[in-house]
Amino acid sequence: MKIVSIVGARPQFIKAATVSRILRSNPAIHEILLHTGQHYDHNMSDVFFDELHIPRPDYNLEAGSGSHATQTGTMLTGIEEVLLREKPDCTLVYGDTNSTLAGALTASKLHIPVAHVEAGLRSFNRAMPEEINRIVTDRISDMLFAPTPTAVYNLTHEGLAEITTFTGDVMYDSVLFYKARIEENTEKYETPGIPGDYLLATIHRAENTDNPANLRKIFLAFSRISRDIVLPIHPRTRKILQSEFPLPSNVHIIDPVGYLEMLKLTMDAHKVLTDSGGLQKEAYFLGKQCITLRTETEWVETLHDQWNIITGSDPGLILEAVAAPIPSTPTHAVFGNGKSAGLIMEKLLHF
Ligand code: UD1
Ligand code: UDP
Repeated sequence: MKIVSIVGARPQFIKAATVSRILRSNPAIHEILLHTGQHYDHNMSDVFFDELHIPRPDYNLEAGSGSHATQTGTMLTGIEEVLLREKPDCTLVYGDTNSTLAGALTASKLHIPVAHVEAGLRSFNRAMPEEINRIVTDRISDMLFAPTPTAVYNLTHEGLAEITTFTGDVMYDSVLFYKARIEENTEKYETPGIPGDYLLATIHRAENTDNPANLRKIFLAFSRISRDIVLPIHPRTRKILQSEFPLPSNVHIIDPVGYLEMLKLTMDAHKVLTDSGGLQKEAYFLGKQCITLRTETEWVETLHDQWNIITGSDPGLILEAVAAPIPSTPTHAVFGNGKSAGLIMEKLLHF
C-alpha cells in the first residue's frame, strides 16, 4: 500500500513522527513524506526531523509564509504534481493547518482517498482559520480518525459516523513514548539558563498575535505574576513583540525548542499558560494544570476538575487561574491507550 503523508507545520511533524514510525515498521506499507514547507526555520522544522528521527521528506514544496490564499494556493499546485506522479492508494493528513486543507482538497479532487488524523475537533468559532480547515477536511475525507469521544460525537452529529473511528490521540502515544526516553537521561533535555521555579507559556494564535489589545492584556497579567515565566517564542509572535511590546522583567523569552526539550520544560513547570492546541493536551497528559489563553477549547476533556482553565486574554481571569489550587485528582485516559498509531495503520490497511 502506497501512502503519501502530508505535513507542513510543527505540530504535524510531531504527530507524523509517531505514525510514520509505526507505518514504516510494516513492510506492506510504502510511505512517501511530503513537506509543504509551511514552517521552514530550523527550529520550527528540521529540529523535529533530526531529534525524532523522522525520515527526510521525499518532497519539500517550500510553500513558505503568506496570506491564507497565497500559501494554500502554492501548496495545492505543488501537492497535485506530487500526487499525480506518485499515484498513492491514499493520503494521510494531520490536524487543522493550511497544509491539512491543501492536502485533503487536492487528493479528493484527484479521487485519491483521504485519511484525516485528529478529525472531529471543533471550537465552533469560525473566526479561527483552523476551524474552517477542520470542517472542510472532515467533510471531504474518506477516513476520519477521531482522538477523543467528543470528536466522535461532533462527527456523528455532522452525519459522518460511518467513516469515523475512535483511535485515541497520537499525541498521547508520543508523550508516553518520548517521556520514557527523557526520563532515561533528564539532563540531556534540559534547556540551559532556565529559572528553577517557573510557569511555561506559549502564544501564537491569530486571535492573540493579530490583536495587539489581547496580547497587551496577556502581558499585563504576566507582569503581575510573582513567578518567572519561560516563553519559547513562535516566530509569528516574535515579530510582533519586536515592534510593539515592552516585556515584563519576569518573562524569559527563548527561541523555540525541540520537542523533547519542550516536554521536559512542561514536566518541570509549575503550570502552563498557552493558546496552543497541542500543549494543552501535553500539559494534561503530564499532570500539569493548563491555563488556556483562548475563549474556548476543542479539547474539552482536559477541562475536567480544572486541569485546564479557560481565561482568554482577560488579566483578572488569568491571575485567578494562576492562583487556583492544582487538582489532586489524576488526569484520566480518554485519549486512548497510547497505541493510536497502530489502530490507524490497521484501519488504513483494511480500507
Ligand atoms: C500554523 C497553523 C496553526 C498552528 C501553527 C503551529 C494555519 C492557518 N495555522 O500557524 O493552526 O497552530 O501553525 O505552530 O495553518 N514564520 C516564520 N518561520 C517559520 C514559520 C512561520 O518566521 O518557519 C512566521 C512568518 O512570519 C509567518 C508567520 O510565522 O507569516 C505565521 O506562520 P503560518 O505558518 O502562516 O501560521 P502559524 O501562525 O505558524
Ligand atoms: N513545541 C515545541 N517547541 C516549542 C513550542 C512547542 O516542540 O518551542 C511543541 C509542543 O510541545 C507541541 C507542539 O509543538 O507538541 C504544539 O505546536 P503549536 O503550539 O505550534 O501548534 P498547535 O498544537 O497549537 O497547532
